[in-house]
Amino acid sequence: MGLLIRNGTVITADETLSADVLVEDGTIREVRSGIASQGHTAVDASGLYVLPGGIDAHTHLDMPFGGTTSADDFETGTRAAAIGGTTTIVDFAIQAKGTKMRSALDTWWNKAEGKACIDYGLHMIVTDLGTSGLEDMDDMVREGVASFKLFMAYPNVLMVDDATIFKALQQTSKNGALICMHAENGSVIDVIVQQALAEGKTAPVYHALTRPTIAEAEAVQRAIAMAEIAGAPMYIVHLSSEDALNQVREARDRGVPAFAETCPQYLLLSIEDQMPGVSFEEAKYVFTPPLREKKNQPMLWDGLKHDHLQVVSTDHCPFCFEDQKSLGKDDFTKIPNGGPGIENRLQLIHHHGVNSGRLTLNRFVEITSTAPARIFGMYPKKGTIAVGSDADLVLWDPSAEHTISAATHNMRCDYSMFEGFRVRGNAKQVYSRGELIVENGKYLGKIGRGNYLKRDARGGAWR
Ligand code: URP
Ligand code: ZN
Ligand code: ZN
Ligand code: ZN
Repeated sequence: MGLLIRNGTVITADETLSADVLVEDGTIREVRSGIASQGHTAVDASGLYVLPGGIDAHTHLDMPFGGTTSADDFETGTRAAAIGGTTTIVDFAIQAKGTKMRSALDTWWNKAEGKACIDYGLHMIVTDLGTSGLEDMDDMVREGVASFKLFMAYPNVLMVDDATIFKALQQTSKNGALICMHAENGSVIDVIVQQALAEGKTAPVYHALTRPTIAEAEAVQRAIAMAEIAGAPMYIVHLSSEDALNQVREARDRGVPAFAETCPQYLLLSIEDQMPGVSFEEAKYVFTPPLREKKNQPMLWDGLKHDHLQVVSTDHCPFCFEDQKSLGKDDFTKIPNGGPGIENRLQLIHHHGVNSGRLTLNRFVEITSTAPARIFGMYPKKGTIAVGSDADLVLWDPSAEHTISAATHNMRCDYSMFEGFRVRGNAKQVYSRGELIVENGKYLGKIGRGNYLKRDARGGAWR
């Protein structure tokens, strides 16, 4: 006996069709109109879209950072994700300097064990190649860690030098994995930051004002150039500015396998609106790269429309305002970097992308699910509605109205970056491997039901 989702409008990256979806044993068995309901549990999806579950390829749950730990763990973070229609995340394990990547992988598996409510993959943050780091990378690929994040920012913490980046890129050109780059020129930014502090500029807004967009663009250009020399693909994470986008577009126009993601905060929030420079409340918007001037936003939307940008993820990294953001009351460099967003990505991109006419429904599905599945080696198990795919499905009500607020959200964070934002379109029911895990904003699944996803190291070959 299967689950039959009837009379919905199935939306994939490629097509929109009126069809029923039959699910058996957690897998999609049939997609066509007129499937007989006999012997199946039928769910009526009239008036609803049937979407592949959202994939958030950039989250930081239970992550030690900036002298504290991100406020959502794998339980609260993945539950909030599910409520928002996201059925898969890819989080980041962090290699501690001087240690094996395997020990970081074990640590993050332990964090997720018994807690993850949806399926999850892991990227590995490489901080040190040491003497065996390149073999470690191959070892990780065998464990399904098909991507590595490297940092060109945060000197003395996570930043690595160009030689390390280049060696890692050469290794991925052999083992098929993908390098994800935090692209900002950390050394230049550090000088500007120290000068600002010396001038007594300690307020949150100086976090944004000390990180010029050219420092992002330069690093994007350098990262792609090194990848090109190494013969490896490059994925730029959390791209925030038009200057940086221009570098990705120029490379893609030349046929270089460069990919990039942006995040809702860069599409919808700005220095002008969120950081007028008047109060410490603005620490809520301290993340890296920082908020940019509003003029960047139309270019980022255009980039999503025209495939200069491939993915929207959240970079969800929540720190509570009261007891965590406050660490930087007298010094913006001590404000833990990051913000909450895992729950609201689909609502925000549907409303401000689809409802406002900037994106088609199919492109919405592509950038929030299909492209991350392909790029990060999970397709077609995840990221589409097709026979044989996992039945990760969202019944999306395009007319549901919702106001985003910390008072009602499910993330463990005492503020919302999108407080008061009204959206039309929301997840009504969410299925993960055929199991109904969310209905009308309530999580119904068992805590810890999520599985670790072994990913394929060939995603970067996709264009
Ligand atoms: O501010 C941010 N983005 N915090 C998370 C760490 C990172 O660089 O992605
Ligand atoms: Zn980053
Ligand atoms: Zn364009
Ligand atoms: Zn991040």
